[in-house]
This record gives sequence, structure tokens and C-alpha cells, in this order.
Amino acid sequence: MVDLSRPTGPRIVAVANQKGGVGKTTTAINLAAGLAEAGCKVLVVDLDPQGNASTGLGVEDRDWTTYDLILDDASLEAVVQETEISNLFVVPATVDLSSADIELFSNEKRSYLLHDALRQTAIDAFEFDFVLIDCPPSLNLLTVNAMVAAHSVLVPLQSEFFALEGLSQLMLTIREVRQTANPDLRIEGVVLTMYDNRNNLSRQVEKDARDNLGEMVFKTKIPRNVRVSEAPSYALPVLQYDSGSLGAMAYRHLAREIMHKNNKVAI
Ligand SMILES: Nc1ncnc2c1ncn2[C@@H]1O[C@H](COP(=O)(O)OP(=O)(O)OP(=O)(O)O)[C@@H](O)[C@H]1O
Ligand SMILES: [Mg+2]
Repeated sequence: MVDLSRPTGPRIVAVANQKGGVGKTTTAINLAAGLAEAGCKVLVVDLDPQGNASTGLGVEDRDWTTYDLILDDASLEAVVQETEISNLFVVPATVDLSSADIELFSNEKRSYLLHDALRQTAIDAFEFDFVLIDCPPSLNLLTVNAMVAAHSVLVPLQSEFFALEGLSQLMLTIREVRQTANPDLRIEGVVLTMYDNRNNLSRQVEKDARDNLGEMVFKTKIPRNVRVSEAPSYALPVLQYDSGSLGAMAYRHLAREIMHKNNKVAI
């Protein structure tokens, strides 16, 4: 279904912003669903001890988790689960992962564990087009692991006051990761979330973001939409929960924009 002019392996994208509640998990889940709907095979790696992405994707069985993948050398086959949605897979997380930050610290490969787990040739057998990593709201070792493992970082930016504050710290971390462990790390883009057209503040945040970050900001804006916030309690992406909602349509657009950027053309 997809023009796979893919070089080797999947495109690995870390969804990151150390600010809490800006729409990282919502974006990881619904972008994944949008990509899957367009025919891409997608894996969501839940790298947040809160496990919200796992819950939002309807995972019940959490016997094998991201913790096992990065700290217990579990194989990809053991941890990758199907979801109810075709083409969409997940590695779930539990609160166990909260101790990983400390356990990782004493490991000499501490920044590379997720890289070694995801950038292995064994992942090719799954034929994923995209791997989306849902990061915790922190610039801790888990987030650094995601940035070392990823080809790019996708930054959700909440259309609220102070949205751009903290971005410079995030960009600094990305630069440090480039200098030390992952010189090819790119910025996939910045996506405005919870956008409210009627609100001056949303429009001001958009203007500031576009003035400061230019092309880096996706054309697609994700509107504030109650269907988006309801969907996780039904353990579904909004694309399945209410396919015609404004939120679902926005995430479909974002998926198209990202596929276009990565030369994956839906047919
Ligand atoms: N477009 C939207 N419209 C309405 N509500 C939204 C939208 N996007 C996210 N939300 C709501 O905002 C809250 C925070 O979103 P989300 O959990 O995705 O953020 P997060 O950045 O992953 O948070 P954390 O930093 O805790 O991991 C959730 O209650 C979610 O349902
Ligand atoms: Mg989250």
C-alpha cells in the first residue's frame, strides 16, 4: 500500500518535550493511527512510566514492556504487541520504568540501550515504516535514550502562554546528543497542539512559533477538540473513536505531512 522507497529499517521518531501535558502522548497515539490508516506499518514505543500511550492504545497485557527491552535484553519479538488497529503495534510501559532512570545511570551504555534495541537488524523483519517513541515529560536519561535511538525529534507545542519557554533547553539537549552520540539527529518538526482559532493567545503562539522556527513548524495544527480528549478513555485513537471529528482529520493531515517529508507516499 505504501511506496517503500525506504532505505533501511523504519524511520524512528522521538516525540519529546520536557513540558508536561503538551500533547506528546496524544500525538504519538493519533499520528501513529493516521500513519497506519494510510498504509504504513507503525510501532509505538511507550517510554513513559505513566504508560499513557499503552492505555490509550488499549493494551491490557503488560507482562513484557519497554523496561524489559532496554534493561533486561528482552527481544523485540517478546515485547512488540499487536493492537486492535491494523498496522499498529506497541511496546507497552508500566511504572517499573520509573526506576530505569536510576538503574540506567550505573550502566556504562546508559544512553545507548534503546538505540541498541531498536537499531538492530532484527527490527527489519517487522517491516515497520515508522517507530514513534512517546517520551516522558523530562530531559532525563529515558528521553536521551530516545534521542540517541531516533532519526528525528517531533516536538508538540501546546498553543498556550509559555509554550516557547523551555524549547531552548530542549534544543540544547538535541544539540548535545548530536555532538556526543547521534550526529544525524534531525528535528522532524514542531506541531502546534490544542489550537483554538477563537483564542488570541493560540494565534499569537502560532505567530511566535512560525516567526522563530520557520519551516520547522508543521502546516497542520491540531485543534483543541473534546473528542481527542475523550478517546483514551475508550482505549482508542480519535481516528477510530470519532473518525470524522476535527481532531481525527487534523492527525490524518499531520500523518500525510510526515509521510511526504519522508518520501512515503500513500496510494
Ligand atoms: N487536541 C486536543 N484537544 C483536547 N484535548 C487534548 C488535545 N491534545 C491533548 N489533549 C488533552 O490534554 C492532556 C495532556 O495531553 P497528553 O497526555 O497527550 O500530553 P503529554 O505531553 O503526553 O503529557 P505528559 O507530559 O504527562 O506525558 C490530556 O488530558 C489530553 O487528553
Ligand atoms: Mg504523555
